[in-house]
Amino acid sequence: MAKERLDKLIASTGRWSRREVKTLVREGRVLVDGRIAGSAEEKYDAESCRVAVNGEELVLQRYTYVMLHKPAGVLSATEDGRGRTVLDLLTPELRKIGVFPVGRLDKDTEGLLLLTDDGELAHALLSPKKHVDKVYYARVSGRLAPEDCAAFEAGMMLGDGLECLPAGLEILAAGETSECLVTLREGKFHQVKRMLAARGKPVTYLKRLSMGSLRLDDTLAPGEFRLLTAAEEAQLQR
Ligand code: URA
Repeated sequence: MAKERLDKLIASTGRWSRREVKTLVREGRVLVDGRIAGSAEEKYDAESCRVAVNGEELVLQRYTYVMLHKPAGVLSATEDGRGRTVLDLLTPELRKIGVFPVGRLDKDTEGLLLLTDDGELAHALLSPKKHVDKVYYARVSGRLAPEDCAAFEAGMMLGDGLECLPAGLEILAAGETSECLVTLREGKFHQVKRMLAARGKPVTYLKRLSMGSLRLDDTLAPGEFRLLTAAEEAQLQR
């Protein structure tokens, strides 16, 4: 793996800014392979060096992966002049690393949002060719029926000519309002809402539950986030 500067490696844990790392190094509180680090600019291979700060050994990664439980009312853009974005929910350290959301959720959609500075993984997760399933829980007005599932499976053409790949629709409850799970392998603009609206079942609530192997941690309340575990990251890379 390519070598990275010590301050970047340590800042990628999201716990200290690069400026704070420089201070820690200056104060002799950073050890690399058991020796006090001389400079924050020295380059190391994250996979083969052992770095400790204040006596605690760190798990180092080249890139940072954050799981956020996106709440409704927040944009999943990186910048917005008018409203809050998902980046405002993170720490200043994570913002400085330059993580960005992998795909978008609508302002009123809740649920799993991955943020990373790993452009290659982000691209792979979003590419329809890679067949990464995204699963959504939706509540709709109207009674969902087996014909709706068949239409999803066949691949729908929406009113404006938008062609959708075959998708999954599992009915959880059917009545005046219904609940379902929708599985997509692509992410066109407002896709779940548009597909269900095309079946005459407008969405009243939408939440993303998973993306490939990555499932929303149900201990995270809306607005909370955490770094991915090493196991989650390894599975996602596969
Ligand atoms: N489909 C939608 O309609 N909205 C989202 O936020 C995500 C998928």
